[in-house]
Amino acid sequence: KRSGVAILGIYVADLAFRASHMPGVGQTIAGSGFAMGPGGKGSNQAVAAARAGARVSFISTIGRDPFADNALALWAGEGIVPRVQQVADQPTGAAFIYINHSNGENAIIVVPGAASLICAADVEAAADAIAGACVFVTQLEQPAAAARRGLEIARAAGTITVFNPAPAVEFDSAFYPLCDYITPNEHEAALLTGLPVTTLEQARRAGDVFLARGVGCALITLGAQGALLHSASESVLIAPFSVGPVVETAGAGDAFTGGFATALAEGASPRDAARFASAVAAISVTRAGTAPSMPARAEIDALLRSAA
Ligand code: RIB
Ligand code: NA
Repeated sequence: KRSGVAILGIYVADLAFRASHMPGVGQTIAGSGFAMGPGGKGSNQAVAAARAGARVSFISTIGRDPFADNALALWAGEGIVPRVQQVADQPTGAAFIYINHSNGENAIIVVPGAASLICAADVEAAADAIAGACVFVTQLEQPAAAARRGLEIARAAGTITVFNPAPAVEFDSAFYPLCDYITPNEHEAALLTGLPVTTLEQARRAGDVFLARGVGCALITLGAQGALLHSASESVLIAPFSVGPVVETAGAGDAFTGGFATALAEGASPRDAARFASAVAAISVTRAGTAPSMPARAEIDALLRSAA
């Protein structure tokens, strides 16, 4: 019997620097804070899903270095089952994260390192994990060929597919019919459709483009406006939860996608799963860090109850 969530993606060490502004080329400025913690969209989504209550397996490649040891310790501590290869000739990845210390805005440089080696054959080697899961999730930080193979394996096995098309890069249109759900933010939706995506009405038009390309349901996050759930049978704005001052928005999309997958794996309707995802994301932005800011199930349930 299938259960839980299988996620293909990357782990990197997030190196977060707080400062008043981004330094220009040739400039050195003093920052106001630094933190290192676990990151990488796929691993962040795995942590979000595990804390939200899902059984999670995570498919990836890391190096053999201190960052890799941190990754293995993270997954062990979160109860995530690693389907992970280790290679000696590439480092575990890292991300430079600039955070504006007054408004929390961020800019990121991510280097996947060993995870850039993930290929379709590596994903095939973990096909049992994908076929045994209720939901399969992937993104685009590792090579697209690997993501596509994961979606194909999931589709053939009858596993629900959730594709988070992040970061915002172009990909082959053959991906779309493999997606039961696609979860872009407004920038990714705009890049992929060539349409402006600022208002709800514009998001609906972008959603129509995704449906026409073969996606089952588009779930477009719109920052403070909430999220649009858009399929042939419904088009609803999922109202945002507001739970306190925003500390760090990096990782909010991962919280959303990980939470969404968890609720779907429990059999929730798309609308209830999207509401659950919004609650996970809302809590995560009130805390520093990406993976470390993911909420526990009890916190998510308390927020959903208080807003019901
Ligand atoms: O989505 C946020 C993540 O993107 C960060 O953790 C960083 O590692 C980048 O990959
Ligand atoms: Na956060």
